[in-house]
Amino acid sequence: MARNIRSRAGPGRLAAEVSTFINRRREIAEVRRLLSTARLVTLTGAGGTGKTRLAVRVARELRRAFADGVWQVDLAGIGDGSLLEYAVADALGLRGAPDVPTSRLLIDYLSDRSVLLVLDNCEHLVDDCARLVNALLRAASGVRALCTSRQPLGVIGETVFTVTPLSVPEPGVALATGAAVTYAALALFAERAGAAVPGFTLHAGNLKTVVEICERLDGLPLAIELAAAQLRTRSIEQLAAGLADRFRLLATRHAIPGHHRRLQETFDWSFTTCTVPERKLWARVAVFRGSFDLHAVTTVCASDDLPVEAVVDSLAGLVDKSIAIREEVAGQNRYRLLDTVREYGLGQLGDTDGMPALLRRRHRDWYLHLAERFEAEWFGPDQQRWLTRLRLEQDNVRAAIGWCLTTPGESRAGLRLVADLQYYWLVGGALREGADWLDRALAANSAATPERARALHTYCRILVSSQGDAAQAPERAQEFLALSRRLDEPSLVARAFHVLCLTAQLDNDMARAQQMAEEAVVRFAALGEMDATVVSAQIALARTVLSQGDRARAARICAECYAVCAAHGEQWGRSQALGESALVALDGGDVAQATGYANERLRIKSALGDTLGIATTLEILAGIAVAAEAYERAALLLGAADRVRQQLGQRTFASPWLRSWRKEYVAAAVGALGEAGFDDALRRGTELSHDDALAYALGAAGDRTRRTRSAKPAAEAGPAAPLTRRERQVAELIAEGLSNKQIASRLVISQRTAESHVENILTKLGFTSRTQVASWVTKHPPS
Ligand SMILES: Nc1ncnc2c1ncn2[C@@H]1O[C@H](COP(=O)(O)OP(=O)(O)O)[C@@H](O)[C@H]1O
Ligand SMILES: [Mg+2]
Repeated sequence: MARNIRSRAGPGRLAAEVSTFINRRREIAEVRRLLSTARLVTLTGAGGTGKTRLAVRVARELRRAFADGVWQVDLAGIGDGSLLEYAVADALGLRGAPDVPTSRLLIDYLSDRSVLLVLDNCEHLVDDCARLVNALLRAASGVRALCTSRQPLGVIGETVFTVTPLSVPEPGVALATGAAVTYAALALFAERAGAAVPGFTLHAGNLKTVVEICERLDGLPLAIELAAAQLRTRSIEQLAAGLADRFRLLATRHAIPGHHRRLQETFDWSFTTCTVPERKLWARVAVFRGSFDLHAVTTVCASDDLPVEAVVDSLAGLVDKSIAIREEVAGQNRYRLLDTVREYGLGQLGDTDGMPALLRRRHRDWYLHLAERFEAEWFGPDQQRWLTRLRLEQDNVRAAIGWCLTTPGESRAGLRLVADLQYYWLVGGALREGADWLDRALAANSAATPERARALHTYCRILVSSQGDAAQAPERAQEFLALSRRLDEPSLVARAFHVLCLTAQLDNDMARAQQMAEEAVVRFAALGEMDATVVSAQIALARTVLSQGDRARAARICAECYAVCAAHGEQWGRSQALGESALVALDGGDVAQATGYANERLRIKSALGDTLGIATTLEILAGIAVAAEAYERAALLLGAADRVRQQLGQRTFASPWLRSWRKEYVAAAVGALGEAGFDDALRRGTELSHDDALAYALGAAGDRTRRTRSAKPAAEAGPAAPLTRRERQVAELIAEGLSNKQIASRLVISQRTAESHVENILTKLGFTSRTQVASWVTKHPPS
């Protein structure tokens, strides 16, 4: 999730704290103590009491106690219990393959790990959370769970800790200014008031009024924040008077129903302090889930009575009033609402004029539009940016799909949405989720439409991209072909032949696979089409051609694909072509060239976050290492691949053809190293961190792999793709020891251009340093 960051102190993911925390030392100590004996602790209390903040604090302090990290899963963004397991898997960085149920993936992964799971905001999914936590705690003895929820989960063995609001002085207690901040409520008010009005401090002149305000708000942190934000536009006396008008002092402090009521009253009051446009917007933005951007808000929420400029102003107003939260993610402003604030907004939306349905349709339209653009632009230079974008929008995309599938008359749009996200499911690491959505979408609407055909296409590609539901894939592929023919959609028919090539490969029928691929490629050529799927079909053809012994043709096809992708500024197709090129080169015994291709592929896969692609590349590199008789390196790389595969819940290549290749080279490595030696190196490979594994694979073996002296660093393996004339010049200047700036002035080009030449040279040669380039230049005099 967007605001989550990786902590430096080890593995794990906790929300970054965007505002100061008022210490709750006693509570933190108590929850830590409970977690030392209980395996499930649930923090309960009314909305806005500070459960989430407390949980994050406790988790942060416990990081060292859990070797495999503390991981926060924010459930406020998901509206549907069926998404719970994905949310947990996402948080842990696990990418499910379609043939592995997510619950299995979670259990397998967690079973021998020491992890604290923080399930945050469980209240709307209490039963699902209870079931999942129960299952995980049973299966994984090193796992503990810290949940926050307005109600307990009701699981046996659950320890409940009730979070009370912040401390407020008893009425009438005489207070010195210095002692005031020992009351957490006053300290919080002072902090937030200082953020609203720079320079604000507690002093003898305002202390009594602040105490009165905090008392009226019953110490509820969220209510205090909303009140303090009002100081932008009113004096503290006006604020106190306004609250006194509206609120009776609650008779029973610390009674939960009272806090709930108090929060509602605070919202009611905040609502009245909003301008009319702000009120409208508060209600309307509540259709969003998780975080969202300004463009989405203006598109979805604007109307005749709330024009775009008013939306922009009102959103700023809601941020000023602490109703919406602004955060910067990947250099861009995004917005979110706390769960309680969002619920209040939805309540205000009412049911007038079909507004809720209208907003949800517009919300869906916006994300459908996004998915369409993604699909249209995927075969281009922005792949990385697009994947990042869609990951940020995940909660909203899910909500939009879910709405389509549960609202009468919208299932056809649902099919479009899930079909257009094809490359997000395939490359963005969401295979399992994609498979589930497609399953549901196809079941929801069986009419013979182009939407259904396109969804079948996406579904088939997911099914064959891993070991898939092998039984289902051929049947679905046939259905896809038949429907495309019936609809008379030649482009889809060509796509169906591509998919049939892939299912034939799963059957290990490479001759048939080749026929299907030829058919697809010829049809695409006749149509004049070029996109990521066309490239995939060509690469599939290269694979089958190679398997049938025609290495030269396979090499030619790969080179063409690479060139086309490069011309489009495209990365993913290029990485696919490089994988095949590596196999082709290896088939011809050219270890150095194979290494260069595989290294370049690995860099791209890792930049895109294509987990499955990283795993397969490590296995290709292992095969290359065996060919180079670097057996220990091969075993290490296989270990590293295993570790990545564990995140997918999947063992090895989907293709039987590659599986049998792998089997051969593993046997060779075991033969050379002996069982024990092989296992030892394999284990060391699994222990490499993600970054170390990549660095090792790329030839820059770090300290942790020093023992693998026999492993030949890939970078020394020699030339990969030839350099252009200009790159050769730049490489020679690098060898002379010139900096980028000096190279730029020597060649009379800009420094940017020089940098980009250097970058290309490193990539092409599979190197990580200039020294390697220098040594390459001396070993390869110009021809
Ligand atoms: N100890 C604290 N220090 C500072 N701010 C707090 C504290 N506890 C809660 N808040 C603020 O109050 C609001 C509600 O807190 P949150 O933890 O989201 O409540 P809950 O999870 O119980 O609904 C948030 O804006 C949060 O930042
Ligand atoms: Mg919360």
